[in-house]
Amino acid sequence: MKFQAIKGVRDILPPESALWNRVEQAARDVFGTFGFAEIRLPIFEQTELFARSVGQETDIVSKEMYSFQDHDSSISLRPEATASVVRAYIEHGMQTLPGNVKLYYMGPMFRRERPQKGRYRQFYQIGAEVLGPSDAPGIDAEVIEMLLAFFERLQLKGAVLNINSIGDKNCRPAYVELLRAELQKVREQLGADSQRRIDTNPLRVLDSKLEHEQAIIEKLPHIADHLCAECRAHYDEVKRQLALRGITYQENWRLVRGLDYYMRTTFEITAPGLGSQNAVCGGGRYDGLVELLGGQATTKGIGFAIGTDRLLLSLQESGAGEVEGGLDVYLAWFGAAAQTAAIKLARRLRDAGFVVELPAVEMKFGKSLGLADRLKARHAVILGEDELAAGVVAVKNLADGTQNKLAEQDLFSYLRASHASD
Ligand code: HAM
Repeated sequence: MKFQAIKGVRDILPPESALWNRVEQAARDVFGTFGFAEIRLPIFEQTELFARSVGQETDIVSKEMYSFQDHDSSISLRPEATASVVRAYIEHGMQTLPGNVKLYYMGPMFRRERPQKGRYRQFYQIGAEVLGPSDAPGIDAEVIEMLLAFFERLQLKGAVLNINSIGDKNCRPAYVELLRAELQKVREQLGADSQRRIDTNPLRVLDSKLEHEQAIIEKLPHIADHLCAECRAHYDEVKRQLALRGITYQENWRLVRGLDYYMRTTFEITAPGLGSQNAVCGGGRYDGLVELLGGQATTKGIGFAIGTDRLLLSLQESGAGEVEGGLDVYLAWFGAAAQTAAIKLARRLRDAGFVVELPAVEMKFGKSLGLADRLKARHAVILGEDELAAGVVAVKNLADGTQNKLAEQDLFSYLRASHASD
């Protein structure tokens, strides 16, 4: 029997894994400068946690969760992490911490979607959440600023920020009813999914990508015209705060997001090179969620999650996915005495930070140097009986073929200098 990875999941192999590390490290660095600290969360939670927060009727919960029975409780692999962050915030009494609590996380999420480019069943997110007593629009703008600073650090090209406000419990219900009434009038012209959503969640009809529904959707009432005074003021201030930071955005009245916990600010970032799955990040405000999950009603929240798989795809497509790395030194040795010296030299080179490959068995000269070439080593350092006797090493630059004999103490500075000029 030949085993294969399950449909929709994949292995991340070297050298691509080095790019993953670089991206994750950049997130740690940039988020750290904004005062965010890491939270590590469980991979599975009670199914009810996601049903309550993401919403029973959403695609994620109703169709896409990997759930299983564990004794007498139902457990699910996490399809996202905001619910877990809020659960942890409440469970650990973090509302007593000063100011807003700023957390980030990274790791795998699981959704049983139809796999395609940029859409997997095990995919990865890098996310951040701000929880606390304030819902100041400056927080929304700063979270977005941090996200864009991260993308800038990675030199992601062509990212476009879309924003919207979807109101709150004062104004949204009336808008949803208005939308439902308007949708009823055109029901017969809509596809099966949208027809169903008229009853379950009319807002999601706005998400439809079906070609023939676009003209119909364009004529529907916009939520921006139905926000209450508080939501309108909040949204206006978010936009002003973004402008203060020099952040450009597109307003997209159809950006409603597929999770139930959102209110007021929603945003998404698209990036090129991803085909139809072009949302590289989604987020928004979720002020009622802490209360919904049993915490304090006064606690507010906002955050985002980046689809790491998609971010990498976009970086690779735009040529910003190259990672420095590889082998500095292939240390070829010939003879037992040279092996002893090579073992010690390899250790000193590694202690100094060079990446060294030391053959475990003796090989013929040509074969050994051939392997050094195929491994794309920058230098071959050659230690044979002659070199040992003379107290030197031979160094061959494998890119240009130049060869030098150096005393061991000069080897380190030589390698450093040639590395710096690469
Ligand atoms: P989401 O929009 O469901 O939001 O997911 C965020 C991002 O995860 C998407 O924009 C996409 O890049 C990536 N993603 C989602 N599903 C897949 C998939 N099947 N394969 C590859 N990538 C995928 C959330 O998850 C919210 N928790 C975000 C948030 C945090 N809102 C507030 N705080």
